[in-house]
Amino acid sequence: MTGVIRSVIAGCGSYLPERVLTNQELAARVDTSDEWIVARSGIRERRIAAEGETTSQLAIRAAERALKAAGLTADAVDLIVLATATPDLTFPATATRVQAELGIRKGFAFDLQAVCSGFVYALATADNFIRLGQASCALVIGAETFSRILDWTDRTTCVLFGDGAGALVLKAAPGRGDNSDRGILATKLHADGRQHDLLYVDGGPSATQTTGHLRMSGREVFRHAVGNLAGAIGEVLAVTGIAAADIDWLVPHQANLRILEATAKRVDIAREKVVVTIERHGNTSAASVPLALAEAVGDGRIRPGHLVLMEAMGGGFTWGACLARW
Ligand code: UT7
Repeated sequence: MTGVIRSVIAGCGSYLPERVLTNQELAARVDTSDEWIVARSGIRERRIAAEGETTSQLAIRAAERALKAAGLTADAVDLIVLATATPDLTFPATATRVQAELGIRKGFAFDLQAVCSGFVYALATADNFIRLGQASCALVIGAETFSRILDWTDRTTCVLFGDGAGALVLKAAPGRGDNSDRGILATKLHADGRQHDLLYVDGGPSATQTTGHLRMSGREVFRHAVGNLAGAIGEVLAVTGIAAADIDWLVPHQANLRILEATAKRVDIAREKVVVTIERHGNTSAASVPLALAEAVGDGRIRPGHLVLMEAMGGGFTWGACLARW
């Protein structure tokens, strides 16, 4: 054994709030239509958290399912990284609430803020702690209640987002150090703060002492998305030497059907290999990739040994990609 440590994906789980909000219902509230939303974004419906249902509650349900799928109890966990832009409170970290509710008494827990790229950032972060030997079993969670920061009178944004949570369990395991290893093989993260004002929330504790509402120049974000995402995918393929043709599944952030299809085409991954949930989930920000993973694992598409490529882009801008062997 050459002694490399890999972060192996031991289990996956997700949770969606019960309430379904359809495009037709939105068309009764703002000047929009089912046809426009489907044609421009691919979204048909999204889930909305119940009154009083918090990000931590969604995260806990997803984490419990991921632990069950991994065949582990919560006391194995020594790291929680929770990606969210919609924490329960300004502080402490929502991750610490999740830790307490799951009965975990050891290790460390923190939130990570990279908006829609949050899950890919969290996966890369947890992978680094594991490979450095500073954690042995991590819960990596993406959980959001974007319904709480939407301006429900703004048709350009309120039709796009939804609530939900997904989680992965990562376990340290010895690997050979080559592409035949199971676990995370490569990650690549980027940020470009010059694009701050194209996708932001117009409130926060320091600036306004309010929570604020999401504001987005959708067309401008769209213009950057495919190039950024294809670039990050190209980087994780190049660093591993794995060809696009060998990827079993592309699990993209679900922001827009046109963006995810154009990205797959740009990097030469067949449409049948792309996991798509956007029509039923909308854009759930940091939760979208693990929600899609859980669905594709649950229905038997993603199986042990498969090469799974994840990507996301969001406010900041932030973006990145992660390549793993399931
Ligand atoms: O997850 C984080 C990253 N976020 C994204 O990746 C989102 C990226 N952007 C997008 O997905 C798309 O830009 C949108 C789905 C947000 C919009 O699609 P688009 O094809 O870029 O449309 P547009 O913004 O250029 O708007 C076209 C027209 C406009 O009217 P005019 O100016 O052409 O008269 C909008 O006012 O559609 C109008 N419009 C709407 N019409 C009906 C905007 N929102 C709506 C709406 N219903 N909900």
